[in-house]
Amino acid sequence: MDTQVAQRTGALRVEGLKLTYGATKRSGGERFTVLDIDRMEIEPGAIVGITGPSGSGKTSLLYTLTGIEKPERGMIRWADTDITKLSERARDRWRRRDVGFVFQDFHLIPMMSPLMNVLLPRTFEGFRIGAAMRKRALDLLETVKAPAARATVATMSRGEQQRVGIARALINRPRIIAADEPTASLDADAGRIVIDLLLSQAQATGATLLVVTHDPAFLARLKRVYHLRGGKLLPS
Ligand SMILES: Nc1ncnc2c1ncn2[C@@H]1O[C@H](COP(=O)(O)OP(=O)(O)OP(=O)(O)O)[C@@H](O)[C@H]1O
Ligand SMILES: [Mg+2]
Repeated sequence: MDTQVAQRTGALRVEGLKLTYGATKRSGGERFTVLDIDRMEIEPGAIVGITGPSGSGKTSLLYTLTGIEKPERGMIRWADTDITKLSERARDRWRRRDVGFVFQDFHLIPMMSPLMNVLLPRTFEGFRIGAAMRKRALDLLETVKAPAARATVATMSRGEQQRVGIARALINRPRIIAADEPTASLDADAGRIVIDLLLSQAQATGATLLVVTHDPAFLARLKRVYHLRGGKLLPS
């Protein structure tokens, strides 16, 4: 489906990453450490899984690596850009251009149609939405078997919303695809379609794919999987 090959993603290099959140009962009034990662290196175009127990920091790690969350300390370098050094505005711009994110809780705009949700990253950029882009959005929705004709996504099932979120993450052919439990709300058949789509998009465009998943069907297709425990990477 994807004939336009994007420029390959740069390598990811992480050093001394520390993310903390404010005081809680659990931390006895201290800030508590959500992520504490000495080093992580991912070559351009790699496809990697991230797994670990609930609360181990998987979503926080994806947010941090894609500049949604700013860590307290550490370097996160994609190609030549340390995104922790960018201003918030520059980081937002970088993320909109380079990252497609599949959110664990979808983050769709409820009153918009599936098509408008998928096209949203284009409208943010102020791109004119031409016939070819509309067709690409509709093709993506068809591939994931999302009901494109609905007036709004508000009444769609969780699984249907998840599929719209996946189509939206891919609309810009991002160099970095970050997917947070992208098959969690899907049955085995719908899950397989999504796994195939994410892997084939990443391979066709040379994108780096970071996927948080517990899904055995997805894990079986990944050559490299990082394990997180209490915010730390276990040795692989
Ligand atoms: N904004 C926040 N403020 C305070 N604590 C937070 C915040 N976001 C996450 N946390 C805490 O950080 C820890 C890691 O959360 P995170 O969502 O990254 O875990 P996860 O591995 O994705 O879990 P799950 O498998 O349930 O999605 C948890 O203890 C969570 O409660
Ligand atoms: Mg999570």
